Amino acid sequence: MNLILLGPPGAGKGTQAKRLTADLGIPQISTGDMLREAVREGSPMGLKAKSYMDAGALVPDEVVVGIVEERIQQPDCARGFMLDGFPRTTAQADALATMLDKKGLKLDHVVCIEADKEELVKRLSGRRTCRQCMAPYHVLFNPPKKEGVCDKCGGELYQRDDDKEEAIRARLVTYESQTAPLIAYYEERGLLRRVNGLGTVEEVYERIKQAIS
Ligand code: AP5
Ligand code: MG
Ligand code: ZN
Repeated sequence: MNLILLGPPGAGKGTQAKRLTADLGIPQISTGDMLREAVREGSPMGLKAKSYMDAGALVPDEVVVGIVEERIQQPDCARGFMLDGFPRTTAQADALATMLDKKGLKLDHVVCIEADKEELVKRLSGRRTCRQCMAPYHVLFNPPKKEGVCDKCGGELYQRDDDKEEAIRARLVTYESQTAPLIAYYEERGLLRRVNGLGTVEEVYERIKQAIS
């Protein structure tokens, strides 16, 4: 199965992807996680990406399209994959369509997780992320068993640089202007599955399973 998880920052894409990937046996491909990894390694691409990310802007299309194109060639994607945070512009969606066409693949579902702005800001401002496995936590809504430590891998939890108030606001504006048009794009192609992202992590998970079954 080839899936896209679409939705504003903080909607729960990463949270749900971590569960779905275990359940469906297909890898999560998060361009955000891959870019943060490049930043951490200090690669030239990471250094270039960091300024865009910290400002809440999008990294140039050609950079992320290149990352995804390379990633979906990997053997673990042979049975399908789940894109989290890609595509984010119409140009990226068109590039993805071309990429899949070339491989004789198609998309099965585009799951759009929806939540209102007030909820998104609450979720992002209390988020903590594992440095090692990138799992997202929340100080109130989804706390780890031991403060500051990842339940899954024991890694250290930190606050992402773009989870500060100013960057959060900028990311929400970027989403509305550049990514939200993809909702209509995929609706026209009959692929869009809207999912209410409010409620517990478990409730949202059940809705997604329903939407893709
Ligand atoms: P990226 O890492 O993709 O960030 P994002 O889209 O802003 O999304 P988030 O990761 O912030 O939110 P999420 O939906 O994954 O929510 P989560 O599950 O963590 O991108 C970062 C940056 O990289 C971009 O700004 C851009 O610069 C660049 N980039 C990445 N991809 C790009 C692309 N394709 N093109 C160009 N640039 C790109 O949950 C959020 C919080 O809520 C957590 O604390 C979680 O515990 C909590 N939570 C989750 N579900 C619930 C629930 N049901 N109830 C209560 N709390 C919940
Ligand atoms: Mg995420
Ligand atoms: Zn971890």
